[in-house]
Parts: sequence; C-alpha cells; structure tokens
Amino acid sequence: MTTSSATRLLFCFISISIARTCYSFSNEEFIQCLNLHTKTSTENLSKLLYYPNTTSYSNLLLSSISNTRFTTPQTSKPLLIFTPSHESHVQASVLCSKYYALSLRVRSGGHDLEGLSCQSLDNQPFIILDLTNFQSVTVDVEHRIALVEVGATIGDVYYHIAKQTTIFGFPAGTCPTVGVGGHISGGGIGTLVRKYGVAADNVLDVRLVDVHGRILDKDSMGENLFWAVRGGGAASFGVVLSWKLRLVPVPQTVTVFNVSKSLDDGAIDIIDKWQHVAHNLPEDLFIETVIQTLLNGTKGVEVIFNGLYLGKSYKALEVMNNSFPEMEVGVKDLKEMSWVQSVMSFGFYPINSPLEILTDRSLQPKVNFKAKSDYAVNLLPRAALKSLWDSLLQVEAASISFEPYGGRMAEIPESQIPFPHRKGILFSILYLVGWHNESEKSLNWISNLYNQMTPYVSKNPRGAYLNYRDIDLGRNAGRNTSYSMAEVWGDKYYKSNFKRLAIVKGEVDPENFFWNEQSIPPLVF
Ligand SMILES: Cc1cc2nc3c(=O)[nH]c(=O)nc-3n(C[C@H](O)[C@H](O)[C@H](O)COP(=O)(O)OP(=O)(O)OC[C@H]3O[C@@H](n4cnc5c(N)ncnc54)[C@H](O)[C@@H]3O)c2cc1C
Ligand SMILES: *[C@@H]1O[C@H](CO)[C@@H](O)[C@H](O)[C@H]1NC(C)=O
Ligand SMILES: *[C@@H]1O[C@H](CO)[C@@H](O)[C@H](O)[C@H]1NC(C)=O
Ligand SMILES: *[C@@H]1O[C@H](CO)[C@@H](O)[C@H](O)[C@H]1NC(C)=O
Ligand SMILES: *[C@@H]1O[C@H](CO)[C@@H](O)[C@H](O)[C@H]1NC(C)=O
Ligand SMILES: *[C@@H]1O[C@H](CO)[C@@H](O)[C@H](O)[C@H]1NC(C)=O
Ligand SMILES: *[C@@H]1O[C@H](CO)[C@@H](O)[C@H](O)[C@H]1NC(C)=O
Ligand SMILES: *[C@@H]1O[C@H](CO)[C@@H](O)[C@H](O)[C@H]1NC(C)=O
Repeated sequence: MTTSSATRLLFCFISISIARTCYSFSNEEFIQCLNLHTKTSTENLSKLLYYPNTTSYSNLLLSSISNTRFTTPQTSKPLLIFTPSHESHVQASVLCSKYYALSLRVRSGGHDLEGLSCQSLDNQPFIILDLTNFQSVTVDVEHRIALVEVGATIGDVYYHIAKQTTIFGFPAGTCPTVGVGGHISGGGIGTLVRKYGVAADNVLDVRLVDVHGRILDKDSMGENLFWAVRGGGAASFGVVLSWKLRLVPVPQTVTVFNVSKSLDDGAIDIIDKWQHVAHNLPEDLFIETVIQTLLNGTKGVEVIFNGLYLGKSYKALEVMNNSFPEMEVGVKDLKEMSWVQSVMSFGFYPINSPLEILTDRSLQPKVNFKAKSDYAVNLLPRAALKSLWDSLLQVEAASISFEPYGGRMAEIPESQIPFPHRKGILFSILYLVGWHNESEKSLNWISNLYNQMTPYVSKNPRGAYLNYRDIDLGRNAGRNTSYSMAEVWGDKYYKSNFKRLAIVKGEVDPENFFWNEQSIPPLVF
C-alpha cells in the first residue's frame, strides 16, 4: 500500500459467500466508525491512530519488530496503526475492520519469528492493532495469581512477581522482552518447563474480544474456545485482552551453571550423554544444550550447557555427580541466586542488575534471523551430532539449541490444550541463523540443515513448535484455504489437536475474519 492510497482507498473483495462487495474506506470514516462503537470522541481517538504520512507511524511500527528482516522498504505496511487505550476500542476495531473488510493484525510484543503481527505477505490491505497501552500486571500473592494485560512482556510479569515475593515464579520463556499476547497463546517455554509445563498450561482465565466484538471470559466463551486459545495461537480466534495466570512455587535459592565444551573437551560425547539423561533428570533440574558459533570473533564452534537447579548448590552438585558426572560440573561452576536472578542470567542480563531491567523494552533483540524447529523422539546418532558441529562452521552466526522435555511435560495429556508436544519428546530443537548481509546464504544454510536432519527427528508429522513459527512449513493461500491444505503445517504444530482447533474455529469465526498466513481454517460440517 502506498501512502496516498491510504488516504482514500477503494477496493473490492470477494467475501466467503463469493458475493462481490465493494467498500469505500477512508481514515475519516474509520474514525467515525470507531466513534460510533465507543464512548470516545473522534478527537481523542485520532490521538490513538497513526497514519503512514508521519514519523510517529514509522517509529511505532518499528518499535517492537524483533526480526529486522521485516523492517525493509519492501515489507508491506499497514494502512494505519491503532493503539487502543480502552477495551471498548478493541471491540470497535474488530467491528470496524470487519465492516471495511480490512485484515486485522494484532500485535502484543512483536516477536513473531515471521513478522505476522506486522505485515501481510499477500499484500492485502491491513491495519495493526497494537496493544502497547495494555501493560498492567497485578500480582495477588495470597491467591497465587497474576492478572496480566497483553501489552505486557514476560519480563514485566517476572518483575511484578519478584517485587512482591521470592517464593513464587511463572513458567514462561527466557527472553524478557517477549510479549505475553503471542507467547502464552502459542505455548511459552522456559527453564521451568520440566517442572510446570508451558505457560499456557498455567492459564486460569482469559478475556478475549470475539468476532462479534463481545468480551468473553472462560465461562462465557465455553470450553472449546478456552481450550483453543491456550496453545492454538489466539490470532485465529479473537483478540486477547488479558490473562489470569497461576503462580508456581520456586525455592528462595536456586542454582545456575553454564559450562562450555569444545571438541577437544569431548563435546560430542557429552552432548550424547546429555540426550540420554536430560529428559529423565529430576524435574528440579533443567539443562539446555546450545551448540553455537563462537561469539568472540574467532572462527569456531562450542557447546554451552546452561543449567538451572531449583535448590541449593550442594544438592545440585549431588544430582549432577550422580546423573551426569561426564559434564564435570564442580563447585566453582555453580552460582546460587534468587529465582528472579536466574531469569536475568538466562536472559543474558547481569544478575546484579536492578529488577527494573526486566521491564526494559529497549533491550529487545533486533537482528536479521531465520529459525526452524524440530522435535527429537529418538536419540540422534553421534554422526548427526558431529555433522551439526560441521554445519555451524559454514556460517558466521548460528546456533542449535536443544531444550529438554520430560518431567511434567510427559505427564500432561497431548489433548489437554492444543500444544501437543508431550510424552515421548526427548527435546525440542531450535535452529537459528543470524546475519548482517548474507541473507541468501543463511537462508539456504538453514534450509539445508533442516533437510539434513529429516531422518533423525520426529515424523508423521514432523513436529514443530508454534512459537518458533516457520512460514516454510506452509501457508494459507487465502481466506478460503481448505482444512486439508492447511493440514500440511497444522499437523506439525498441533498434531492430533489440529482438527479440533479447526472445528472450534468453524464454531466461533466461520467467515474467517481472524485470518493470517498460518491461521487455522474453519472446518464447518
Ligand atoms: C528474541 C526472541 C526470544 C524468544 N524466546 C522464546 C522463549 O524463550 N520461549 C518461547 O517459548 N518462545 C520464545 N520466542 C518466541 C515467542 O514466544 C513468539 O514469537 C511469541 O509468539 C511472541 O509473542 P509476542 O506477543 O511478542 O509477538 P507478536 O509478534 O506480537 O505476536 C505473535 C503472534 O500472536 C498474535 N497475537 C499477539 N497478541 C495477540 C493478542 N493479544 N490476541 C490475539 N493474537 C495475538 C499475533 O497476531 C501473531 O500472530 C522468542 C522469540 C524471540 C524473537
Ligand atoms: C496524514 O493523514 C491523515 C489521515 O489521512 C490526515 O488527517 C493528516 O492531516 C495527515 N498529516 C499530514 C502531516 O500530512
Ligand atoms: C477525551 O480525553 C480527555 C483527556 O484525556 C478526557 O478528559 C475526556 O473525558 C475524553 N472525552 C471523550 C469523549 O473521550
Ligand atoms: C575465542 O574463544 C575461543 C574458545 O574459547 C578461544 O580459543 C579463542 O582464542 C578466543 N578468541 C579470542 C579472540 O578471544
Ligand atoms: C560424587 O560421586 C562419587 C562416586 O559416586 C563420590 O565418591 C563423591 O563423593 C561424590 N561427590 C559429591 C560432591 O557428591
Ligand atoms: C553464563 O554465565 C555468564 C557469566 O557468568 C552469565 O553472564 C550468563 O548470563 C550465563 N548464561 C546463562 C544462560 O546462564
Ligand atoms: C557485510 O557485512 C560485513 C560485517 O558487517 C561488512 O564488513 C561487509 O563489508 C558487508 N559486505 C557487503 C557486501 O555489504
Ligand atoms: C477461493 O477459492 C477458489 C478456488 O477454490 C479461488 O478461485 C478463489 O480465488 C478463492 N478466493 C479467495 C478470496 O481466495
């Protein structure tokens, strides 16, 4: 969309019923429509709307895009960005976008790996609903709950918990700037995953604006929709306003370690041992494996094992000594700290930083990158481990991370929520490559690596984690993409839960208003 066409635009679309409808859309009319559905004056509303002819539009648009692959002049741009300040504004934006046949892209934290919260890959006219004004987090220690608005980051959640208590935490991701809107509705995985499952497993209630502009909660939306938004990706079903989360107990003192090994240290043997034991360790011990290019400018590869033990260091030592002596973790490697400091450590923030660092959005990573996701259900042959090492030597900056499952993850039934990767999963694999200017080489590299791994990872379907979104897995061709076409990628993200998700979608949004390139198609019988 060009700037001038945003001012006044006439376009047509073919609705689901194949009736041809034409609407005239102008910014003025859109404000009038919002005004009609809210108690807010057009003057006040205009302060919440950003048009392409201003620098505040560009600043806001770029403010939270993590993957700078999607900040180029070629990236499609929204007709406008709306930053609602009241829940009624969100309701109105659904009704008015529907009326003017505009696609709505909902943005919370902006970390979507394929930029689906900020662009339209098929150049359909769209607007962004940016929920940045909804950042409140209220922690109620007595009842062990947190009420979290979707514009908050997971760092905000950790901060507000830690401000009030040292004995509770929340099981979500390791990067503090990630938004709770996308993250929790897509699963949400971090260092407490083996003890408490994914973030979505710990959602008690939700407030959501549906396609009719109604605000629904757990009781009024019904079991099916409440099930779907916890791991199915809320973007297919409505706009989440807030989550009610269950806090989980953490000890006053936890222990963190990270040890690095090179090939000469026997890295391959140790990774091999890791894949035998990591998913079977006590739930209080989480050890991730990150094989990565050296960060200090020297050409080379190392493996880093990052560990969190929910307890004191002498106990951590005992467990490591019993289950994993090959890693040779000693007293000097173990650091005792509070749980929230472990959050800082895994976020690569200095652990003696003020708590406020967790709320600092300017620390959001902004780089060109591409990621792909896999699940290991069998042990990887040693030769495959070695070949990962060799692959990494071919690029400047890349990593392959293994996150262990098992523990609580293996106990939660596959269909409890749409996030399906449970029993039988040894670990997830995240391939990541970053670059300054070698985009084509990097994209080829990661896609070759993914192909090379085919024989060793989960199959039928080859599983993938929704929050590690990968558009190469397939995409909707348009609003009327059929269920069977979408199964190609739907089965990978949701396994046997995909069909139920499509049925729920058919119940709550049969006309497929909440659409994006990887949204769930409605299945209507
Ligand atoms: C640097 C980085 C680190 C990461 N670390 C982790 C990690 O440790 N663990 C992990 O599990 N994942 C991690 N992720 C992946 C992350 O969980 C997902 O990208 C997540 O979807 C981001 O949520 P967001 O709100 O920030 O993103 P957004 O880009 O705002 O949204 C992502 C998707 O959710 C939709 N959405 C957003 N808000 C709403 C809403 N309120 N209602 C309905 N739909 C909505 C968007 O439309 C989009 O489709 C990381 C990603 C990055 C870039
Ligand atoms: C930008 O566009 C809006 C909406 O069309 C218009 O109201 C406003 O006057 C324009 N501002 C500038 C600086 O051109
Ligand atoms: C407009 O905004 C002002 C200042 O925030 C507020 O006092 C007033 O109530 C608002 N009026 C309407 C109708 O939105
Ligand atoms: C980078 O780290 C590697 C492995 O630890 C080391 O061998 C190398 O000398 C380091 N290079 C520099 C420039 O510090
Ligand atoms: C580690 O295990 C060995 C043998 O199992 C034992 O002799 C040693 O005391 C243990 N060390 C610690 C610190 O637990
Ligand atoms: C690893 O250790 C370094 C130095 O102690 C620390 O800064 C970093 O945050 C740690 N990383 C993780 C993932 O724990
Ligand atoms: C690519 O990026 C590197 C490092 O940023 C730089 O040194 C090099 O000049 C760049 N090459 C091109 C062709 O832009
Ligand atoms: C819907 O599907 C038909 C074919 O099944 C196709 O011709 C048409 O263009 C599609 N419409 C949209 C809006 O994608």
